[in-house]
Amino acid sequence: MTSPIIIAIDGYSSTGKSTFAKAIAKELGYIYIDTGAMYRAVTLFALRNGYVSKNNTIDTESLRKALSRADNPVEITFRTSGPGGISETWMDGENVEGQIRTIEISRVVSHVAAEPMVRQFVDRSLRAIGVRKGVVMDGRDIGTAVFPDAELKIFMTARPEVRARRRYEEMHSRGYETTYEEILDNLSERDYIDTHRRTAPLVRAADAVLLDNSDMNVEDQMAWFRDLLRQRHLCGY
Ligand code: DC
Repeated sequence: MTSPIIIAIDGYSSTGKSTFAKAIAKELGYIYIDTGAMYRAVTLFALRNGYVSKNNTIDTESLRKALSRADNPVEITFRTSGPGGISETWMDGENVEGQIRTIEISRVVSHVAAEPMVRQFVDRSLRAIGVRKGVVMDGRDIGTAVFPDAELKIFMTARPEVRARRRYEEMHSRGYETTYEEILDNLSERDYIDTHRRTAPLVRAADAVLLDNSDMNVEDQMAWFRDLLRQRHLCGY
């Protein structure tokens, strides 16, 4: 029995990180954590409480106070439901999975995620989950800031048009009405904010393996991943 490890999957928006990370978690019997969902849930919380103004300025002081309420801290968790074992995001006892995936949240989330205090709040939750290892986390800064000692780091990218097309199809299959152009614009804006923010910007860790999956399906990616495990003698491969 090999000891469990932490697998950090970082990369640009809509590069299929969560699909790949879920497939890895299934293969290894690991827990999958969608760290972007945590930022999305905090964004929903901030919007609902009126902490985000029209030009996306955030009332950081009110948000900080609310997130750190000692008597009743905001609780974001993941619960698995249904026969396929789909993981859904819950906030303070409410299933918010549908509400955090909208284009409205996508428009604001990078601004909220750029706040150092929000990042501290999310990092604390993620490190608490990671102590027992046996986890696959996908995000933007897992291999650089949250778990710089993760045993395996993968950095994902794909051509922008491929990413926009994938997100467009995903949004439509979920019943959201958006255009391809709107999604492409949102992706490039988020790329810019994610890579230029001061705290924990999106950057490839020096020891992360690059995966460009523009022309790969999930099967191809899993074959690539198993090879990687074999080369590194990880997880019993
Ligand atoms: O993966 P996603 O599109 O659901 O992520 C939503 C936003 O959250 C993304 O625009 C950047 C931010 N994010 C982050 O800053 N750090 C992470 N570890 C994960 C997501």
